Order: sequence, then C-alpha cells, then structure tokens
Amino acid sequence: MSRGAPGPAGGISRRELLGGALAVLTLPVLRGCTGDRPARPPAASSSSRPAPARADDGTPIVPVPPLAASTVDADGVRVFQLRARAGTTEFRPGTATPTWGYEGAYLGPTLRARRGETVPVEVVNELLEDTTLHWHGMELPGAADGGPHAPIPAGGSSWPTWTVAQPAATLWYHPHPHGSTTVQVLRGLAGAFLVDDPADGPAAPPGLPAEYGVDDVPLLLQDPRFTADGRIDEDPRTAIGPLGDAVLVNGVAGGCLPVTTPLVRLRVVNASPARVHALAAADGRELVLVGTDGGLLAAPVPVRSVRLSPGERAEVVVGLAPGERLRLVSAPPDLGLLPQLAAPYGAAGTLPLLELRAAAALRPSPELPAVLADVPPPDPGVASGERAFQLSAGRIDGRTHDPARIDLRVPLGATEIWTVTSGHEQPHSFHPHGVRFRVLSVGGAPPPPELAGWKDTVYVPPRTPLRLLVHFAQPADERAPFMYHCHVLWHEDQGMMGQFVVESP
Ligand code: C2O
Ligand code: CU
Ligand code: CU
Repeated sequence: MSRGAPGPAGGISRRELLGGALAVLTLPVLRGCTGDRPARPPAASSSSRPAPARADDGTPIVPVPPLAASTVDADGVRVFQLRARAGTTEFRPGTATPTWGYEGAYLGPTLRARRGETVPVEVVNELLEDTTLHWHGMELPGAADGGPHAPIPAGGSSWPTWTVAQPAATLWYHPHPHGSTTVQVLRGLAGAFLVDDPADGPAAPPGLPAEYGVDDVPLLLQDPRFTADGRIDEDPRTAIGPLGDAVLVNGVAGGCLPVTTPLVRLRVVNASPARVHALAAADGRELVLVGTDGGLLAAPVPVRSVRLSPGERAEVVVGLAPGERLRLVSAPPDLGLLPQLAAPYGAAGTLPLLELRAAAALRPSPELPAVLADVPPPDPGVASGERAFQLSAGRIDGRTHDPARIDLRVPLGATEIWTVTSGHEQPHSFHPHGVRFRVLSVGGAPPPPELAGWKDTVYVPPRTPLRLLVHFAQPADERAPFMYHCHVLWHEDQGMMGQFVVESP
C-alpha cells in the first residue's frame, strides 16, 4: 500500500476528510477507483453515538455492545454484516468527537457464532480510506484473515468466509492496514467476537455466567487522549505510540455497570494501542480468572490482578453482595522493565475502569463449576521444529516488515516451539495470526495461571525468553500470508512484523 506513515500531519488531513462538503466532493472520485466492487452511498456512512445514559447520581452507564444481527440459512450458514463508518461520539458532554465504528459511530457490535458454523461476513468500507478487517485469535485460513494483504478500498466491500473451528473463547476484530492500524483502532474500529462451543451447551459449561448483557458482558478498553478541541489525539507521543490518561470502557470513562446477579462474568479485551493494563479490584479483592485469549481455563483461578498487553483478553468472574459497589481499575502493570523506564510506558498510576453496582436484591447465580474445560498440560514432545524470534527496537530478527518477503514457511498441521525473546527495555507483545498457542515457560519457569491456558497474544518482558507451543491447523499461502508481530500497534505500524505461510508439506 502506498500510504505514508500516519504522522500527526497525515492524521489531520485524513480527519479533515471525515465530514462536510469535502467528503461529498471527493467521494465520487474515490468510488471511481473501486473497480467492480459495489460502491456505497456516503449518506449512510455517518452517524453519531448518543451520550451514555446516566445513573441517578449522574454517573454514566457503561453500555453493553449490541449483539450483531445475523441471519442463518437452511445450511446453518450464519451471515453477518459489518459496515465501517465515520461519525461522532459524545465522550464529554457537549463535545462531538470524530470517531469511527462498525454499524455505529464508535466500536462495533459483538459477533457471536458457534463452533462448526460457517460465517460469511460482509465487510463494507464506508470510510474514505482503505481498511482491512482482521479476526484476532480466530483459527481460519489466511485468505479470510483480513491482514494487510486484504485491503478493502473506500466504498468497497469484501466477504471473508470461514468455518469456526475452535472452542469457546472471547476473540475480537479490528483493522490491520499496514502503517495505519494504530489510528484506525484508536478512532474506534474494534469489537468482540464470542465463540460458543455447542459441545459445552449454550451456557458453556453449566454454572458459568452466560446471559449476554446481564451476567456476561464484554468490556473493550481503549485509552485515547483528547486534544483541547475534543478530537482524538493521534500523535504517537511515546516510543510505544499513543498512551492516554484515562481509560474508556465500551467508550465510557468513569462509568458504572448495573449488576443484577451475585456473579458477573466480564470478558475484558485490551483494545488499547499501547497501554498494558493490570485489571484489578480497587479494594484488592480476588477476581476469578476463568478464561484467557483462546478459551476457558481448566479450572477457575483466583487472582489479584491480570496483566493484559495490547490484544490480550481475560474472562474474569466477579462476586458482589446485594447493594455492593466495586470499582475495577487498571493498576500499574509489572512490565519487567527497569523502574525508571516503566513509568513513561504507562506503568505509573492507577486508572479507574468502571464501578460495578449491584442491585439491592440480586437474582441467584449458580455456583461456579470446578472444571471449566479440558485443557491438558502442553506436551513439547509433539513439536516437530523450533524457531527463535528476537524482538528489538522496531524490528523482529533485525528486520522490518516487507510485504513481499515471506519470513517463515511452516508445514500445515505442524506443531512447533517458538522462543520469543526481547533484549530491549520497552514493552512488546507477540501475536501470530491463525493459531492458538500454549506457553511452555517464561524465563525458564512454568507460566503463571494467566498464561497457562490457551493464548494468541503474550506480553514479552525484556531478557525473559518465552517458549510457546504453537499448532498450525490453518493454511495460508503467499497471496494472503499470516502475520506475526508486536501488538503494540505503533510498533506494528513501524514494521515490527513478519509474515509466514502454512502449506501442505
Ligand atoms: Cu490483533 Cu495482527 O492482530
Ligand atoms: Cu491477530
Ligand atoms: Cu513492540
């Protein structure tokens, strides 16, 4: 793609294109470039997100992302539509901030599909620049993965289609255009994708809270910084890109979430471009970790906090008494950096996330199951190969991203040990596409509970080799290779990314 780096100046000029007469004037020209793809009228592509509802004391209420509508045909094919569009969001009373979203002005609806279902998604780009749509954590063929090789031009659309072939998990979706991922995600292009596993039943497994929007709620964390005139500040500012000073939860800062059951399951997605969060209760009580990126843990694990680097997810169950209020916070994460270097990368203070507010009378919750999923210990003996990856300033193995270079070739069906090491005093997180993996060791030690289950993204502290056991079940060819990259989005945009194909041996 021939786009320049998304510096502040480029960001401003693109922002200027978002609304008003200029957009109307330029759109027909852009539409003329879309070849045989269907063009969409610009009128439908702008919307405003209303200010959040407020509790009696004026606290904004954290909205639950709507479930995406879908139609299921006779063959069980579940069809979704996601339209990326520009609009405005009232983050602060009276200020309309230009934002992007899917099916709305900011963030996107929650897609939900069952293992075994085929899901075509019509992705429509109603924006005025290229985008892509990547299914983070999904095991699917490279052709449907939505990486940088699959641009959807302004006014165009695409139809990624795949069959969901993995256990229940909290996945997410976001754009992946090389060089512009940071700004597109920061403007609001992100949403959750929940996989249900029929083998476990709809409330999988029985006892785990599973009523969407009632006791099972996705929470997308983003931390945009705002300019004095109320725009999202896209200046990367730090060596890891934009870091805000407040955290939005589903688009709301300092909000509350009404709770009507004693147990509530929160599916937390770190959709922040750079910030590593340590999810914790403000009063220090334990949260019960039930799932990580790629699925449920073998059993619930009480934890004081869960570290989530960009792209990682955690499912936690929180217990509340009737009438109780509990604040959840983003505490300073342990980044493994020298202390004087951790603060500039966001590990300095505690930021509020939201307050859970239990009703005076709560509907009972069933007891949490003792066993959540069958997650046998990983067996490194099944690996047929090993590779090592070295993360350094802006590079992986000394190279920056080249869309024309295939960095690795992996045999389809193989299991490999990937050792990822950072020698560098900066936060990095490692994410390969199209796979789930298990962490074998962290600096030679067994992984902590938050890294002991299924993962697809992992924080990489300096001087601490991570050994990952990765299984390659999905094919990807040279036209649409899988990416592996640092999920600090500014690093990814700067080229801290390689690509691999997975082919029949
Ligand atoms: Cu969250 Cu390459 O992706
Ligand atoms: Cu991904
Ligand atoms: Cu990085």
